[in-house]
Amino acid sequence: MCGITGYVGGRAGSVRLALDNLKRLEYRGYDSAGVAVVRPGDTQVTVLKKKGKLANLEAALSGLDKSGGTVIAHTRWATHGRPNDVNAHPHSDCTGKIALIHNGIIENYISLKERLTAAGHVFASDTDTEVLVHLVEAHLARGNGLEAAIRAALAEVTGAYAICVVSSEEPETIYAAKTASPLIIGLGEGENFLASDIPAVMGFTRNVLVLEDGDFARITPEGVTLTTLSGTPLQRDVFHVTWDVSTAQKGGYAHFMLKEIYDQPQAIRDTLRGRVTETHQVTFPELKLPTAKLLDFNRIVIVACGTAYNAGLAGKNFYEHLLRRPVEVQVASEFRYNDPIVDSRTLAIIISQSGETADTLAGLREAKIKGATTLALVNVVGSSIAREADEVIYTYAGPEISVASTKAYVTQLVGLYLIGLYIAQEENKLGPGLVADYVEQLLRLPEQVETILADTTAIQEVAQTLKDSSSFFFLGRGFDYAVAQEGALKLKEVSYIHAEAYPAGELKHGPLALVEPGVSVVCIATQSSLYDKVQSNVKEVSARDASTVGIVKAGDEGLNEHFVDSILRVPATHDTFMPALAIVPMQLLAYYIADALGREIDQPRNLAKSVTVE
Ligand code: G6P
Repeated sequence: MCGITGYVGGRAGSVRLALDNLKRLEYRGYDSAGVAVVRPGDTQVTVLKKKGKLANLEAALSGLDKSGGTVIAHTRWATHGRPNDVNAHPHSDCTGKIALIHNGIIENYISLKERLTAAGHVFASDTDTEVLVHLVEAHLARGNGLEAAIRAALAEVTGAYAICVVSSEEPETIYAAKTASPLIIGLGEGENFLASDIPAVMGFTRNVLVLEDGDFARITPEGVTLTTLSGTPLQRDVFHVTWDVSTAQKGGYAHFMLKEIYDQPQAIRDTLRGRVTETHQVTFPELKLPTAKLLDFNRIVIVACGTAYNAGLAGKNFYEHLLRRPVEVQVASEFRYNDPIVDSRTLAIIISQSGETADTLAGLREAKIKGATTLALVNVVGSSIAREADEVIYTYAGPEISVASTKAYVTQLVGLYLIGLYIAQEENKLGPGLVADYVEQLLRLPEQVETILADTTAIQEVAQTLKDSSSFFFLGRGFDYAVAQEGALKLKEVSYIHAEAYPAGELKHGPLALVEPGVSVVCIATQSSLYDKVQSNVKEVSARDASTVGIVKAGDEGLNEHFVDSILRVPATHDTFMPALAIVPMQLLAYYIADALGREIDQPRNLAKSVTVE
């Protein structure tokens, strides 16, 4: 999730202004930053970029900070190519006359890069973004004007982008376009501003144009011309911002946790992007692992901590169901000391949002020493775990600010589903038709999560009713038990209420002794084959006066209002993918209970986002 700012107008110190605006986008996370400036008379665009914090870039400005001119600036959250000076944006064409910044992912960059390289373009970075600026250059060379060249370049790319382009040929213009990544224009008097998000421009204007997918903008000090990508004129209403900066950073949500829950449909889309072919097969262009090696593994070990561990539990159920191979999930801090059974025929999947958790990193190293092939499923590009693993697959959830992990979890599930399907596909365990059936269900997930998020009234009501519970049990069987463990973790993290997940059938072997009035039980029942058994388990707890909530598939009546006090319905998908939907009401339940209790939601007591000590 990169951050973009831009400025056209007559102010002296516009470079400083663009960097100050970038600071208000720090919550988007970043690993490097860069700026491009162009003034009338310049023969090239001046570009400066540095790895690390914005302060590193500021320290290198040496006089440029006093410069005026047209500016585009960028903080990078790496997706393709490690965080370093060269991969930082802006990227320039071969002539140095054009500079471009980008937020998003260009899916077809490999084939475009091959074509452009063959035509003589010289690439400096490992990024997907750089193809765009060379494509613009290539279209200019065919005699197009800059605007037409940018449109022609965008017509050739697939993927997600918000881009800004400047050129020494038109020093008082920024061209911008967006599809699936955010971009707004702040409207000033004789000057205009660009940004990924509203907080960046709030120091200068509260009148903004929020660009929509497919919009193309030409921005000069005097005004903004909006068109579609193909050039049809467009009108968008000016939005007047009344929020304060902190609310605006959270997109208007009260907390990052809630914002990140609402980010989930996009995070799933981004994680699926480029990994599904037109015929709905699974592809991982980033994997180097030969198919023969993939088929040679006789066991899979999943190693992770916290929420990532819980994602691994759901992965285990899916893999055993699909691949019929033994899968073990280990808490990373235990893995090292358990003398794990790992050898050269083991695939070790290491899951981590941050890629820096010390125990998980140590688990990765242990697996490598024992000869396993290690595959990291990680969110932060270039993190330690991503660098040290033999193979890496990124989740593309974007930066997660809230300590309680939400969008990282669902994207870890989606990553695990894709990996499992990929192995099954490559070893012909599933024919292409069955793989396509699964993939079609995965592609529906973002919309199904949106359906849950569209009306949370029932979840909020349950939260109000249960907020004073002394303790919670989360019950489920099979896939439902796996997701129950994440539901319980969410609740305890943010509400500080004791919560425990149990296999529904195991409750009577001990924990039932704890069930009494004041205790609440969330029963996840999304697997139709298990309804009868789950009904009996619910009766066991309601007979002892616990409050009960059921999380079920819409359209299934196996567990309904006759069995539990409240029902939360989620859309139906394949049983194996139900955790990705069932978790959403549990995240929201945890959030609303914590909110009702006045907890520090984004930074719960005693917890840290990234635990880098063992
Ligand atoms: C901490 C965080 C959890 C997270 C766990 C693993 O405990 O509070 O939310 O799940 O670390 O973090 P990782 O970055 O490795 O996924």
